[in-house]
Amino acid sequence: MDFKENLKLYQDIVNNELEKYIIKADCPEKILNNSVEYSLMAGGKRLRPILVMATYRLFKEDYAECLPFAIAIEMIHNFSLIHDDLPEIDNDDFRHGKPTNHKKFNHATALLAGDSLLNQAYIVISEEIFYSIKNEFKDITDNKIRAFNEFTKATDKMILGEYLDTELEGKDISKEMLQYIHENKTGALLKLCAKMGAILANAPEKDIERLSKYADKIGLAFQIKDDILSEEGNSEITGKPVGNDKELGKVTYVAYYGLEGAKQELNRVTNEAIEQLKIYGERAEFLRQLAEYIRDRNK
Ligand code: IPE
Ligand code: IPE
Ligand code: MG
Ligand code: MG
Repeated sequence: MDFKENLKLYQDIVNNELEKYIIKADCPEKILNNSVEYSLMAGGKRLRPILVMATYRLFKEDYAECLPFAIAIEMIHNFSLIHDDLPEIDNDDFRHGKPTNHKKFNHATALLAGDSLLNQAYIVISEEIFYSIKNEFKDITDNKIRAFNEFTKATDKMILGEYLDTELEGKDISKEMLQYIHENKTGALLKLCAKMGAILANAPEKDIERLSKYADKIGLAFQIKDDILSEEGNSEITGKPVGNDKELGKVTYVAYYGLEGAKQELNRVTNEAIEQLKIYGERAEFLRQLAEYIRDRNK
């Protein structure tokens, strides 16, 4: 099976699973639920849950055990995107080729849909842990609690990264600060994906460390590429505005290194990511291709 087919297979698994959490009931808060559904099912690439599952499958075949955690990360990610697009943060009108949540609904609804997704993620994980405790799956429960702890810390980093990204708009910052923002804003959740996949699969500590390093690098590569696409992408393909980072005076890799320099950085960190996988040989082929996909994507 080639990479694209494999990716599609994973995306279908995630989409089918997410559908189960969509509330379709005719209740007083129906519009809030519609607003959650609107963003969650808008056509995201599902990179984060796929990364959880693919890392898990380096060690264990049946991904059912890690699926709820994968879903929870996608919820957190969508919460972050809804809030990121709000006027108080990036003030963007389009995402996934459609009006952003606050444009489609209203600001209060978008704010609360984001809150709802943040909390939904914790419900999903807590139910998963509760189930393991009830069934006395001791080792699995320990791994799930550890994964949950990592989950809470990474979410916190994403939030502080968003804060700094917003607060430092239009200001001169150091290269170190730029990297710090990227590591937190985007890197933390991507790193968490690989780390959780390995933890939940009961991988040895050395592997958890190696895969965290791999994800650290693809996390950085991901944001550099996002910055490049914001500069020279095609908004019809990315589904979001192009040129907006510059307009807001965001300190991006492109602003700092120039377009060519950013591309060099992208290649460098992608190679460093792939380097971490060598030891796994063919088993890690999908993860290697995923790193290349992040580097080469046009959306
Ligand atoms: C975009 O993330 C926002 C960043 C964290 C830079 P993705 O490009 O993974 O978003 P979707 O879910 O696929 O749209
Ligand atoms: C979004 O970063 C990151 C989070 C929401 C955590 P950006 O603002 O750079 O991403 P896009 O370009 O809006 O997707
Ligand atoms: Mg932003
Ligand atoms: Mg944004």
